[in-house]
Amino acid sequence: MKKLRTQVGIVGAGPAGLMLSHLLHLAGIESIVVEDKSRNYIEGRIRAGVLEQGTVNLMNQTGVGERLMKEGMIHRGFHLSFNGNRHRIDMMGLTGNCITVYAQHEVIKDLIHARLDAGGQLLFDVSEVQLRNLKSGAPEILFQKDGERYELSCDFIGGCDGFHGVCRPSIPEDALTFYERTYPFAWLGILAEAAPSSEELVYTRHDRGFTLFSMRSPKITRLYLQCSPDEDIANWPDDRIWDELLRRSTTSDGWAPKRGPIIQKGITDMRSFVVEPMQFGRLLLAGDAAHIVPPTGAKGMNLAIADVVVLSRAIAAHYSGKGDDLLNTYSQTCLRRVWSAQRFSWWMTSMLHRSDSNNPFDHRRQLAELDYLTASRAAMTSLAENYAGLPLD
Ligand code: FAD
Ligand code: PHB
Repeated sequence: MKKLRTQVGIVGAGPAGLMLSHLLHLAGIESIVVEDKSRNYIEGRIRAGVLEQGTVNLMNQTGVGERLMKEGMIHRGFHLSFNGNRHRIDMMGLTGNCITVYAQHEVIKDLIHARLDAGGQLLFDVSEVQLRNLKSGAPEILFQKDGERYELSCDFIGGCDGFHGVCRPSIPEDALTFYERTYPFAWLGILAEAAPSSEELVYTRHDRGFTLFSMRSPKITRLYLQCSPDEDIANWPDDRIWDELLRRSTTSDGWAPKRGPIIQKGITDMRSFVVEPMQFGRLLLAGDAAHIVPPTGAKGMNLAIADVVVLSRAIAAHYSGKGDDLLNTYSQTCLRRVWSAQRFSWWMTSMLHRSDSNNPFDHRRQLAELDYLTASRAAMTSLAENYAGLPLD
């Protein structure tokens, strides 16, 4: 057994784990990140695309925003489409804020680059990760790498290993309360080699189901369509995907996503989930390890980043002798934002998706909500404020 030691052991090199390691480094605190996938894999994994203003500001202020500034696409508004008509929500005009479209795996590349440049320790391709002694002052992460067993002893563990990780299940179940809602639908997402046909995102409510038009670059379009959660991707040849996308998304003025070769496709299920509290002894959960939102509000990655801002400050206060008040209230501080994002994501989801009830009442109610939303400046401002993201502080 090889023994290692660091101040903060971090499980998972997603946005939460890498940003935590980066922020701790800037505060003069050492960390080691253990990740069960390869660097190559996580640098290519297609996920989120929307960065709130607060996330963009943080990346800039902490020196990892250079490529984001060059390649990120600033969006000052977005569209809601229903009954065949698009309605623009002028986020910038209503709130003074905007969002930036920049792929999550590009954020991952930027953070990995910054950590390695600064001599940070990122251990990829580890296996059999286990946590021990969480209630003691010296918790441990056990893992295997290249056939060797390791024992990493630390002062704190950052549980940043996503929804399917080992950190949350390492906490005794009776110490946690779970809140969960599953949805009777999923998203089929594609990347297509086609120039985006709109400069801004388009969220569409259609009787046949939701669609979302997004993008990754001036040459790549990202599209999603609502499907059933047990859908087999094999039943969706490219032509069927395009037929369905165009049928649902085309508006009465003739706008439609441009077609192009599909270079990636997959199905994502939809879930709302929160665990309380987000801490147990010296283990502090952050990001998807503690909460999941359906992707409709584009909040997941931003929430993960917001958690680790709070966590890094709390850990920094501990080491600088300012006491553990921030650590003790870590969960409480994060959960306020988490529940606000949960509410928003659930609301966007239920307003825009075809419901399972198939009750015509629900269809009319959705249309009435969208009608109000796109006619009332007050309602639009609330939507825009939540979408662009509430302030980090
Ligand atoms: P993850 O990104 O899941 O990272 C966890 C890491 O831990 C992974 O690298 C994983 O390999 C590793 N790991 C897991 N188990 C172990 C283990 N046992 N040992 C070691 N390592 C382990 N969010 C937005 O903000 N905006 C969007 O536009 C958006 N769109 C989305 C679209 C889709 C289709 C999907 C699926 C998600 C979207 N999200 C969006 C959500 C966002 O991708 C997640 O919320 C985000 O990845 C959470 O980051 P994380 O670091 O908490 O977890
Ligand atoms: C994306 O571009 O992947 C994306 C955009 C907005 C969302 C979800 C995903 O709400």
